[in-house]
Parts: sequence; C-alpha cells; structure tokens
Amino acid sequence: MPYAAITGWGFAVPDRVVTNADLERMVETSDEWIVSRTGIKERRIVSQDDSTTSLAALAAIRAVEQAGLQPTDIELIVVATCTADDFLVSQAALVQAAIGSKAAAFDVGSACAGFVTALDVATQFIRSGSYKRVLVVGADTLSRYIDFTDRSTCVLFGDGAGAIVLEATNEERGLLASVMGADGSGSEHLFVPGAARFAPESADLFPDARPHVQMNGQAVYKFAVNVMNEASIEAIEKAEMKLDDIDMLIPHQANIRIIEAAAKRLNLPMDRVWVNLDRYGNTTAATIPIAISEAAAAGKLNEGDNVVVVAFGAGLAWAAGVLRWGVAGTRNAAQ
Ligand code: ACO
Repeated sequence: MPYAAITGWGFAVPDRVVTNADLERMVETSDEWIVSRTGIKERRIVSQDDSTTSLAALAAIRAVEQAGLQPTDIELIVVATCTADDFLVSQAALVQAAIGSKAAAFDVGSACAGFVTALDVATQFIRSGSYKRVLVVGADTLSRYIDFTDRSTCVLFGDGAGAIVLEATNEERGLLASVMGADGSGSEHLFVPGAARFAPESADLFPDARPHVQMNGQAVYKFAVNVMNEASIEAIEKAEMKLDDIDMLIPHQANIRIIEAAAKRLNLPMDRVWVNLDRYGNTTAATIPIAISEAAAAGKLNEGDNVVVVAFGAGLAWAAGVLRWGVAGTRNAAQ
C-alpha cells in the first residue's frame, strides 16, 4: 500500500497588516492584553482585491512549483475551508480553475480542524491507490465574518492560505497515523448565528443581516487544551511511537497558552514547536499548512523527522496526526 509523502508546500497571506495598535483604535483593548492572553501581535486581513480563492490559488501554485510539478499533474484537489467564496461551487473547483488544473475537486468543512482532516482524507485516496498526486489546501478569510466591534473575537483571527502536494511513494513518509473527532453538542460555543439568514427565501426578512462569529472563549479554551493533548497522544500511540520519537510539533495557532500546554504534554521544548500566531493570528484552516511551509523553508524539518500536527475548532471538532517528513523514493513510486 503506497504512502503519501509531502513533496511541495507554499502559503499566501494578504498584504494588509493589522497590528494590535490598530485594534486599540477600534475596540477597547490593549496590546498588553492581546499579547499576554493570546501571543498575537498582528494579523493579515484581506482587502477588496483578495478572496479565499486568490489566497488559496497563490498558495497552491507555490506548493505545486515547490514539488517541481505543473498544475496539470495534480489529479485531486481537496480544500479545507469554512469561508468559501461561493455557497454552491466548491472552493476546490474555484482553485482548480484559478491554477489551470483539470483535477477532481471537493471541499472539506471542519473549521480550524479542516486542514488536518483534509490531509487525512487526501492521504487515504493515495493509500487506496485511487490517486498519485493530490493538492491539499487550507484557506480561510474569516475576517469577512468577524464583528470588528466585538473585542472578544476580532483580536484573534487573521486571513491566509497554505497548501501541500502529496505524492505516492513506497517509502514510509507522510501521514502515518491519524485521529479525528467531533462533539456537536458543543457547537454553540463557536458558531455564526444567523448564517442561515442568507438563504434566499429569508433574505428579505433580514436585509441588514451580516452573520458574525460568536464564541464562548473560555469553553473553547478548556476544550482545546484537553483535546490537543489527548488527540496528539492518541495519534502517537496509533503510530506505535513514543514521545521521544517526536521531533517537531506543528499545532493549530489559536493561543500561545494552548500551544505551550500541548508542547509540555509532549515533552517538547518550544524550539521544536512551530509558532507563527504572533504574526498571523488564527487563520482557521490555514494555520497548519502555513506553519509547515515556514518550518520547511527555515530548514526545521529534516528527512525522516516525525512531526505531530494537531488542530481543534468549531464543531466542536479536532484532528491530529503523526507524519514523517521527507520525499525519499517518492518520484520512483509515483511514476
Ligand atoms: N481586550 C481586552 N479585554 C478583553 C478582550 C480584549 N480583546 N477580550 C476579552 N476581554 C476581557 C473580558 O471582557 C473579561 O473581562 P471581565 O473580567 O471584566 O469580564 C476579561 O478580559 C477576561 O476574559 P476571558 O474570556 O476570561 O479571557 P481569557 O483569558 O479566557 O482569554 C481568549 C480569552 C483569548 C478568547 C481565550 O479564552 C481563548 O483563547 N479561547 C480559545 C479561543 C479559540 O481558540 N478559538 C478559535 C477556535 S478555532 C476555530 O474553529 C475558528
């Protein structure tokens, strides 16, 4: 049964930087509060010219180029997003057209857990022999659904996209073990009330309705700390590894305190944890592929390294995996 090595990676974020000082002018908050409670210093927010499609397509092109491939080489595109540019057309189909690919295309929706979930789905398609080259994208522009007068949410999120290319290989590379879970009874802790008002038959009733993210931060925080620890450990056990076997943690970037708790549970010093939420905030499904891209570009991921990826989010949902970095033998198996 083939494995699914990561052979390409890339990311894209909007040019517009919104700092904590900018937010101080919009809501009653402070740089000190935001940094000490979350670790976030600035985030990127889309302008009129950007969209989920434009960011996702740029990240995708970069990942395909990094893999040394053409968009036409890709057989399947899976996009994780909760902010697709169209309700009807999948975000993956929009990316497919934007990059000039002919691949099959569909979306995975699991908010911040979406990318690890999509990575799992895509890996299964390669392991089953259905496809040999799959593009997996995590892309979100959640700022379009944020109330910038609500200090409890507007300081947390940013926009962005990250992508990876998976290729079939006979070497033990890529996602080796994974766990996923959901607890829909917690959906009220993080959701977009009134999103259904966009349904055509009710739009007339709510002409000014613009749905916004609503969150019970403390409930999500408690859930996140527990589930990040438990899911990571479960994935490591499933991979038949020990904590000592793990070289790197690439976690969902929501709050530095949640990340530090996960690192502590895995006995990893912070220099073996990729953190970029200070620069981008929480980019929803994009956090992990952006982090993978940055860590790879910085030379932090070496051939054969075992990397834990773990994420949580609205659902409430979670997903974790252990992946082995590197491309050994990939090209031979993919021919
Ligand atoms: N600036 C200043 N004060 C603030 C702000 C702000 N931006 N936001 C809240 N406060 C105030 C509160 O009103 C409260 O004031 P009070 O004590 O007078 O009532 C005080 O700060 C403390 O608020 P808490 O909510 O207790 O603060 P906490 O330490 O829990 O931090 C936070 C809040 C950062 C939201 C934290 O709970 C958290 O990170 N939760 C997880 C959120 C998360 O990860 N969400 C994303 C999920 S992924 C997805 O699917 C999108």
